[in-house]
Amino acid sequence: MNETIIDELSARIKELQAKTEQEVEEIRVKLLGKKGEITRLFEEFRTVPAEQKRLFGQRLNVLKNEAQQRLAALRENMSAGDAAASGDDLTMPGDEMPLGSRHPISITREEILSIYKKFGYSVAEGPEVEDDWHVFGALNFPPEHPARDMQDTFFINNQTDNNILLRTHTSSIQVRTMETGQLPIRVVCPGRVFRNEAISARAHCIFHQVEGLYIDKNVSFADLKQAVLLFAQEMFGPETQIRLRPSYFPFTEPSAEVDVSCNICKGKGCNICKGTGWLEIMGCGMVDPNVLEANGIDSKEYSGFAFGMGVERIAMLKWQVKDLREYFENDVRFLKEFATVV
Ligand code: DAH
Repeated sequence: MNETIIDELSARIKELQAKTEQEVEEIRVKLLGKKGEITRLFEEFRTVPAEQKRLFGQRLNVLKNEAQQRLAALRENMSAGDAAASGDDLTMPGDEMPLGSRHPISITREEILSIYKKFGYSVAEGPEVEDDWHVFGALNFPPEHPARDMQDTFFINNQTDNNILLRTHTSSIQVRTMETGQLPIRVVCPGRVFRNEAISARAHCIFHQVEGLYIDKNVSFADLKQAVLLFAQEMFGPETQIRLRPSYFPFTEPSAEVDVSCNICKGKGCNICKGTGWLEIMGCGMVDPNVLEANGIDSKEYSGFAFGMGVERIAMLKWQVKDLREYFENDVRFLKEFATVV
């Protein structure tokens, strides 16, 4: 091997020209392909005496770099040339890439969960296709009890077993959490629920809920009230007040509906709160001892509270969405309004 060969090759590489991609490829093969000139020099390098290895090693590496750079430059010229030849105007501004936005239901669900995570709750999920026990039986809805009619259920007709249904509420995840036998419990359970209702501005057959369950020793109604108040203030602002109205759910005793002071009129009365100054946001109550016992928890030692809210409802109140169907139609004009929220 001698330096002149390398010098000559280097000079030649600098002068290389090509008109088409194919020509560039041919040059690449000639220089760097399996039998290419540079490849062959590298092979020859193995026989170079030890004291010259350093010199030739460096020179060959430089040569190889020069070749690769020249090839890249030729390729680049080629694509610029192609664009010019095709008449494309490379100075034209690009098309704007439309950015997607998160769905208001996802935004609201995440916000609800992040508030409870701050309070130390963990998140649990469960199946949408459930059995009668998890949706009703274990929650103190006896068979034939009229409370079952509070929720119009979609049953899955299965010849061998008609106990299978689409869950009507996420309270079924409470049951699944209690079944694990681990105490204390502090979970929030988000999920999709199904009810056989006619679709209108105020009702839909699919919607989303977040359920909460807290079970420990000495949990009292005062703890529930505090948990609800803190949530309402995080969600709707620090000035928010709450009011609890007596209610009925088979799985809680006592039970209550929670109202928050209307965040639009600040409690003065407007058409969103129908002049009352209050907006209903969730149901809650102390877990009925029957529910604890049905799920293997000693109701003399443990007590707890539960709550459940509709995500669509919270989102409607937060953004004054008037028609529930908007959430499901995916009209981009509606969805775009939430692009700046997160
Ligand atoms: N499961 C109830 C519903 O879908 C909501 C609910 C009310 C859940 C009170 C609760 C609760 O955990 O304590 O209407």
